[in-house]
Formats: sequence, C-alpha cells, structure tokens
Amino acid sequence: MNTLNNLVWHHATVTRQRRADLNQHQSTVLWFTGLSGAGKSTLAHALEERLYQMRFHTFVLDGDNVRHNLCKDLGFSADARVENIRRVAEVAKLFVEAGVIVLTAFISPFAEDRAKARQLLGDDFIEIYCDCSLEICEQRDVKGLYRRARAGEVKDFTGISSPYEIPEQPDLRVDTGSQDLESCVTQVLDYLVQRGVYQLK
Ligand SMILES: Nc1ncnc2c1ncn2[C@@H]1O[C@H](COP(=O)(O)OP(=O)(O)OP(=O)(O)O)[C@@H](O)[C@H]1O
Ligand SMILES: [Mg+2]
Repeated sequence: MNTLNNLVWHHATVTRQRRADLNQHQSTVLWFTGLSGAGKSTLAHALEERLYQMRFHTFVLDGDNVRHNLCKDLGFSADARVENIRRVAEVAKLFVEAGVIVLTAFISPFAEDRAKARQLLGDDFIEIYCDCSLEICEQRDVKGLYRRARAGEVKDFTGISSPYEIPEQPDLRVDTGSQDLESCVTQVLDYLVQRGVYQLK
C-alpha cells in the first residue's frame, strides 16, 4: 500500500492472458511514426479494417482525433508534443491491458519521446516507421499544411520548421512513399504473425 495517499492497486481476475485466450490474439501497440502525409492514418485504418474482418479487437488512436479531446489543451511546442505522446502511450497501455490491438498514428517526431513510449510499453511497443520523403509528403499535401507552413502560417511544422528524427532501429520500416497501400498492409500483417500477435489458421 502507498501510505502517502492510501492508494491500493486492485488486481483483476480477468487477466490479460485470459483476454488473449478469449480473443484468439495477443494485444499490442503498433506505433506508426513518420512525417505528416507519410500515410500513418491511412495505413493504420486500412490495417484495422483487415484485423476487424478477422474479428480482432482493435482501436486506432489518431493524432488529430486525440487533439480534439484527450489532448485538446496541448499545442505543438516541444513540451506540448512530449506531453501529447506521454498521454497517448499511457492510454495505449490501458487498451493493451484490455486485450486490444492499438494502432497509433502520430508524427511523434522526437526519438526521445518514442523511447519513453517504448520504455512504458516494453515488448508491447512495435515501432513502425512510415518512410516517405519530405518531397513526396509535400507533393501529397493532404491537409494543405505544407503549403501553409512554407508560407509561414503554421509554426513548428515537422519537416519544415521543426525536426523529424528518423527512427534508427524501428521494429519495421514500411515504404509508404513508393509502395502501394495494399502491400504495406500485407507487410505489417506478416510482421504481426512473426511477432506472435496472432497465428495463421
Ligand atoms: N502506401 C501508402 N500508405 C499510406 N498512404 C499512402 C500510401 N500510398 C499513398 N498514400 C496516400 O498518402 C496520403 C497519406 O495521408 P495520411 O493522412 O494517411 O498521412 P498521415 O501520416 O496520417 O499524416 P498526418 O500526420 O498529417 O495525420 C493519403 O492520401 C494516402 O492515400
Ligand atoms: Mg494522420
């Protein structure tokens, strides 16, 4: 017992392992990182669709959506980005305990923050680098933000006025710049089997 604030952790009888047995898959976090427009959200949702069709329990935590609610008090300064990622990692951890395959789609530009998420989640943290050049992301400019960043209308924009630190040793690198979506989805699914998240029947 923590005598300072009288908190006692209550242990569940429905354990993570029992949930996994029931669900027929393990829970984990697929942490997609990459530049804006690299394809994190597109890939995460396409993958979720495939996992859903296999009757798996999944949930996408998407950058923009989370900033509408859980992190609506946060901006894009370095400190705010750190706190944003910390909250996401904590929420992802709860989902993992609940037996869910979590797919997070955040730029998560700083190696240190990703390292903290890995530290918190341990083996449950699967870092997937969506590798797409700045040139291609800027050509895509899905949200029109690169144009606005170049015009100086958006400050601290990753790739333009704020750094993106490329993962040195991601668990998986997906070439979202030149491979089509379907083969990226297949690559991740194959990796999940390799990691023992689920077994082919
Ligand atoms: N292999 C691929 N994987 C994912 N997206 C792809 C791929 N090839 C092309 N695209 C296209 O790239 C764009 C990626 O946009 P998306 O919104 O998914 O990026 P994002 O990384 O989530 O950006 P942000 O950080 O701004 O949310 C989409 O228009 C998508 O159709
Ligand atoms: Mg996105």
